[in-house]
Amino acid sequence: MLILGIETSCDETAAAVIEEKNGRFSVLSNIVSSQIKIHAPWGGVVPNLAAREHLKNILPVIETSLKEAGISIDDIDLVSLTSGPGLIPALLIGVNTARTVAFVFNKPLIGVHHIEGHIYASLLESSKKSNNYRILNEIDFPALALVISGGHTQLVLMKKHLSYEIIGTTLDDAAGEAFDKVARILGFSYPGGPIIADWAEKFQKTSFTDIKLPRPMINAKNLDFSFSGLKTAVLYTIKKNPEILKNNGRLSQISHEFQQAVSDVLISKTVKAAQKYGPKTIILAGGVSANKEIRKQLGEAIAQKLPGIKYLIPDIKYSVDNAAMIAVAGYFRWKNETNKNKFKNSWKSINADANLKLK
Ligand code: KG4
Ligand code: ZN
Repeated sequence: MLILGIETSCDETAAAVIEEKNGRFSVLSNIVSSQIKIHAPWGGVVPNLAAREHLKNILPVIETSLKEAGISIDDIDLVSLTSGPGLIPALLIGVNTARTVAFVFNKPLIGVHHIEGHIYASLLESSKKSNNYRILNEIDFPALALVISGGHTQLVLMKKHLSYEIIGTTLDDAAGEAFDKVARILGFSYPGGPIIADWAEKFQKTSFTDIKLPRPMINAKNLDFSFSGLKTAVLYTIKKNPEILKNNGRLSQISHEFQQAVSDVLISKTVKAAQKYGPKTIILAGGVSANKEIRKQLGEAIAQKLPGIKYLIPDIKYSVDNAAMIAVAGYFRWKNETNKNKFKNSWKSINADANLKLK
């Protein structure tokens, strides 16, 4: 089965083709046109600028994804698209394009939740070149997903495929949002996550140890998060010691301490959730899962405190927004539906929903 994935919920125009054979996936193409440079001067994504760029890029991106996969649109069996949540002007471009493609070429269309895509991204591996059809990372249920992106920070319990219960969430900023806002305070560009990670990596433990940031809600009994106070703590530290901004050693120190504070809280809550719910698999998902330290430290915590639990992380290229993850989530929605007639003319019923709930 060949699936075309389309994603335009935020600032990446993405299309991908994946092939499913007996429950195994191969990514035939994964095209992402990034708008980072366009939004960087504003320090965040400007919805109308995003929509304008999606409109410009969506057809070439889809055409390139088909070309790279070596197929034509006629070969596609299913179109899967992010119908929400996200920025409404941005979502509308993807939804209207996908609906038109599905109508004109008579293809079934499935709308998936963006976070569902992130969760399923860890099933994607292998490439056309190696001609490997593998599902290396099968999920054993119940599974616990730690979703950390620019818009979300959630602990999601999955008793089976496509079943989601949110057992913890952020009360204010998402983890990625905190990275981006702190990067702004430190004078770095957008998106700040990877830049803070690079500065943190340069930190030498012997240089300075005097910057200490809080680990918000780490001892709270519930599984919720809060990152806004951490961001404010960085702001006050800089206000008190503005020389930090002019000293590379200090900048790497504060980046390291901030990243470690986020990591400590995320890991502590994930371990607590796992101890309470007893999952067989822990899945790390979302753009912040590209962070090498968080990937590594969560792996170490699981090995130490939760032995025997399977740990799934997406390949870095499938951590941040892409359409291959949307295609694989769409496949599971397709497979789960016994009455395939439901997908006849399904383009008529797919709408953009900026506040789509994960369910
Ligand atoms: O999932 P994603 O691509 O888009 C949303 O759905 O929001 O996540 C983007 C977020 C941004 O906040 C970005 O700063 C963060 O992921 N990010 C990182 C890293 N790479 C991307 N945060 C920390 N470390 C990274 N290496
Ligand atoms: Zn995302």
